[in-house]
Amino acid sequence: MPLYDAACAVRENAYAPYSRFKVGAALRAASGKVYTGCNVENVAYPEGTCAEAGAIASMVAAGETVITEMLVVADSPSPVPPCGGCRQKIAEFARGDVQVTLVALNGARQVMRVDELLPGAFGAGHMDGV
Ligand code: THU
Repeated sequence: MPLYDAACAVRENAYAPYSRFKVGAALRAASGKVYTGCNVENVAYPEGTCAEAGAIASMVAAGETVITEMLVVADSPSPVPPCGGCRQKIAEFARGDVQVTLVALNGARQVMRVDELLPGAFGAGHMDGV
């Protein structure tokens, strides 16, 4: 299934009663399988989780750890960018050259590489010598 269709479908299930901002994310893993996630908010606001985090959790729960492409969609005026925390989560499982497509329901799209989303990322190599 195309990532756009998968992300739009899961976005419908977003639980966003506080922000009213529904987000859908879909990623393709190394096996070719698509994993999806939506944002899940909580009355204790910081406990809410992003769509990207949900898709990544679904991938890892299925036994995969390599993202080969990703797409995020929301009803925003311009393509929706992942938050800072999600950029770090994506970088954990995707090489720098992996493409993340940011989409607005109005049709606007922007394609960014993971190393553009999170330049200078903290990585395991920074702990060498510990
Ligand atoms: N949100 C995501 O799920 N992903 C993003 O890329 C941006 C923000 C969610 C978090 C919260 O539920 C709502 O959007 C408003 O911030």
